[in-house]
Amino acid sequence: MFGSVGYPPDLAFVATHGAGARMWSTDGREFVDYVLGSGPLVLGHAHPRVVEAIQRQALAGTHFYSMNEPALRLASRIVEHVPCAEAVKFVGDGAQATFYALRLARAFTGRTKIVKFEGAYHGHHDYVQHGLSAGDGANTVERKANSAGIPPELSKTVLVVPFNDLEAVTRLMEVEGPDVAAILIEPIQRAIMPEPGFLAGLRALCDRTGALLIFDEVVSGFRLALGGAQEAFGVTPDLCALGKIIGGGLPMAAVAGRRDVLELSLPGRRDDGRSIYLSGTLNGNPLSAAAGLAMTDVLIEENGPAKLHAIGAAIAEQLRDCARRLSIPFTMIGAPAYAAPVFVEHPVRDFASYARSSQGAARQFCLEMMKRGVYVHSKWYVSTVHTEDDIAKTRAAAFEAMRAVRDAGLLQ
Ligand SMILES: Cc1ncc(COP(=O)(O)O)c(C=O)c1O
Repeated sequence: MFGSVGYPPDLAFVATHGAGARMWSTDGREFVDYVLGSGPLVLGHAHPRVVEAIQRQALAGTHFYSMNEPALRLASRIVEHVPCAEAVKFVGDGAQATFYALRLARAFTGRTKIVKFEGAYHGHHDYVQHGLSAGDGANTVERKANSAGIPPELSKTVLVVPFNDLEAVTRLMEVEGPDVAAILIEPIQRAIMPEPGFLAGLRALCDRTGALLIFDEVVSGFRLALGGAQEAFGVTPDLCALGKIIGGGLPMAAVAGRRDVLELSLPGRRDDGRSIYLSGTLNGNPLSAAAGLAMTDVLIEENGPAKLHAIGAAIAEQLRDCARRLSIPFTMIGAPAYAAPVFVEHPVRDFASYARSSQGAARQFCLEMMKRGVYVHSKWYVSTVHTEDDIAKTRAAAFEAMRAVRDAGLLQ
């Protein structure tokens, strides 16, 4: 059993190897890959610089459970590029990063509740497994957990509001503000863009109410811009969660942000009741850090985010053109470096409008693409190594896949 995505038996596969933007399976299929390990492989599979860094570090030691040189260098890189990052604490994965950011915020503010946005995914832990589906209208703020096994008492501490609705967040904060430790947001939520002023409005609201603003930059970090969404949109949070790219395709994530907040996790801190426990056996792993350094080296040298933007824009244009020729309602939402095809004509500005798109068509489109040798999930990750040839293959597959979706009567 693996992950949260299942395929029909005729499409399920076992991966054997990858090179560049291509991937192969045990039954000899070849895919153009837009899943890319769910995002980390921004330079494609087995990039020589990343492979070489891993080999070199493997010979020098794979783990120390102590401060180590690659981790220190990666932390410095994060501090150099990510605007909020005065300090960095490494953790194991993106979910741990959002989990610890929330624990830090509660300890720092002495408050219990958190605000998150409808449809936002921040990992597997109990707090953020709320509000992943659309509300039923009757209870739009407090939600039942989306996973079994989560205590109902905990659900009372998670408040869910619609993305891009500053008025709703403001109204909520007028009532709940004194109890709210943090507003947690993925600045481009999955692939839904923030409207102008929304992120800045949240920043001002947090400043007014004393809640911390946490950006989940697990996807956007070093992808949208080297400094992530906070650089791209010019809004600096108090803390951010980083993951995926910073580990170069190996397990590694981080909480970065204000020193006075992160210092609550320092061992040996004086006991004033605000110290938090934050540790894990493999945290700050040197092998992951070496891979992350190599990957970010290349992104810096090649102006990676601009390259991703250009390649992503070219792919999106091809998909839009296919849809136009087939008279299919279609739009590609998101930043070109990661985007999502939606079969809809109305604008997508929050999870409710996203949910009103033809989700059955979107799911089937992924499967039809896989049948034609293009591996995609709902969100497409672009790499710096997708070639003209990959894009041409993608276009040919997309045209046929869209036609199959249309002919199956899946469009609204
Ligand atoms: C925005 C966002 N936050 C957090 C996570 C969780 O990261 P991980 O799967 O490394 O735990 C993900 C994973 O896809 C994500 O997309």
